[in-house]
Amino acid sequence: MTEPTRHTDTCPRHVAIIMDGNGRWAKAHGKPRHAGHRAGVRATRAIVEAASDRGIAALTLFAFSSENWSRPEAEVSSLMSLFLEVLQREVDVLHEKDTRIRFVGARDQLSARLQRKLADAESQTAHNTGMELALAVAFGGRWDIVEAARRVCRKVERGELSAAAITEEEFAQGLSLRGMPPLDLLIRTGGERRISNFLLWDMAYAELYFTDTLWPEFDPAQLDEALRFYAGRQRRFGRTGEQVSESV
Ligand code: IPE
Ligand code: IPE
Ligand code: MG
Repeated sequence: MTEPTRHTDTCPRHVAIIMDGNGRWAKAHGKPRHAGHRAGVRATRAIVEAASDRGIAALTLFAFSSENWSRPEAEVSSLMSLFLEVLQREVDVLHEKDTRIRFVGARDQLSARLQRKLADAESQTAHNTGMELALAVAFGGRWDIVEAARRVCRKVERGELSAAAITEEEFAQGLSLRGMPPLDLLIRTGGERRISNFLLWDMAYAELYFTDTLWPEFDPAQLDEALRFYAGRQRRFGRTGEQVSESV
């Protein structure tokens, strides 16, 4: 077993990925879109393993957005079957690797069967101490913020919180990624330079990395390239470059 690289300031603690480009990959290879999604799963497996080996503490993957419900019914249902199949096959493997799994998104929009599988995977891996893997399914950044707003409103209604006491920290307790380290690096494959309603709150200070590589072709070497890009950034959080270099 190789000793994984430990976290340093130059290694992100939390990486999120918009895994885009499966459809175009399939088209380029003369295959149907679902073959692209299957190829995407293979890429996902390799990246999850590589991220864990590199000592990344948390990985959040965008698998299906709130807006993806608008795709043709056949594609949506083949994606849902694929999720079920992948969970069936991969959860034990992830558990063996000490990975903790969390699902984020509007679960009530998913089939009862899939909801059960998600809950089982979460409880099976709940006490693992390795990398935390958040899978965003039926997820939207706006949905997430509205859910957090509902939570603080309920607390206010119950008289547990005053409007004046709603801080960013309190509000963030209602977001899907609560408890995870702040998002350091957001990667998008597939060539688009947009966020597509992903982690709107969490990306406030994330470094953004865009690559034209289609998701099925994004491999651990390309993850390393994204990590090198990240290592080269000076994260100022509003301060001057001089302040930052003096504080290290
Ligand atoms: C991303 O690949 C996977 C999902 C959104 C489920 P796409 O299916 O969006 O691939 P392109 O953008 O059509 O190539
Ligand atoms: C974003 O990709 C969602 C996922 C990768 C799950 P899309 O392919 O849905 O994004 P748009 O619609 O092109 O912005
Ligand atoms: Mg796409």
